[in-house]
Amino acid sequence: MTSRIAIIGAGHVGATTAYALMLRGLFAEIVLIDTNAELAAAEAADISDAGALTRPTRVFAGSYADAASARIAVLTAGAATHGSESRLAVTARSAAIVTACVTELRAAGFDGILVVASNPVDVMARTAFRCSAMPAARVIGTGTLLDSLRLRQEIATRLHVAPASVDAMVLGEHGDSEVAILSSIRVGGQPIAQFESGHAPLDLPHIAEQVRCAAYDIMAGKGYTSFGVATAAVRICEAIARDEHVVLPVSSLLTGQFGLEDLYLSLPCLVGAGGIERTMIPELNHWEQTAFQASAAAVQAAIDGIVP
Ligand code: LAC
Repeated sequence: MTSRIAIIGAGHVGATTAYALMLRGLFAEIVLIDTNAELAAAEAADISDAGALTRPTRVFAGSYADAASARIAVLTAGAATHGSESRLAVTARSAAIVTACVTELRAAGFDGILVVASNPVDVMARTAFRCSAMPAARVIGTGTLLDSLRLRQEIATRLHVAPASVDAMVLGEHGDSEVAILSSIRVGGQPIAQFESGHAPLDLPHIAEQVRCAAYDIMAGKGYTSFGVATAAVRICEAIARDEHVVLPVSSLLTGQFGLEDLYLSLPCLVGAGGIERTMIPELNHWEQTAFQASAAAVQAAIDGIVP
């Protein structure tokens, strides 16, 4: 087991991430950090109550000093969106919060891998990278991993197969401009059209739109989302902790892919102990390439709107 992980932000996403990490038994220690120390302490205590039935894990509320020795820090603090407000709409407010958190993390001497879940996650991952003085490989945004899980789940349910047998990705912005890569969906290694032969084909564009709007639908009912994004963050932490070298659609710094640079967007990435080991260039059809460029432009516009 890797020793310690830090969760910055003890709100719904941070607390859920800490609880999911404890159930996975990946880390001996989980430290919850929040400006609201009382909240962090209460969440740590509540999660610890499950401790007797899980792998031995010390869950506690602490400070950035406690994060200094962490293998991974998961950043969940940020501005919340409300109702139909887009994730990009809270860019300025979240950027201020993320900058403050990463500045404290850097000052404390953190030298691990930073997983960013704060929304808008692609802009926040870039903001965190720029103020962290860390190599880009060690700053990862949860990106469209959650959207890709949603897409796989929707297809799997309709086809009555296990989600693990559905290979499907959403790329680009984790947000309104995200791009479901419908041209390369495979089921059990077969192109989906081949798998469906003899049956009515799925309305994939409709499913992609459902995935794009999934968070809004959940927020209409509970006011926020937490379990999906927490599970995505934990999956990334697991890939790092176990040095899996697994390909996941996560947000990483683009260095020329599709002609884009100095931008965090989701592409298939090789993830292991060192963080992002490679950002891959997938085969996209013309429509998907155009949509990916439009997604990059939407994220770039939000970046341009941040007061320098
Ligand atoms: C969602 C939030 C995390 O998609 O953006 O659930």
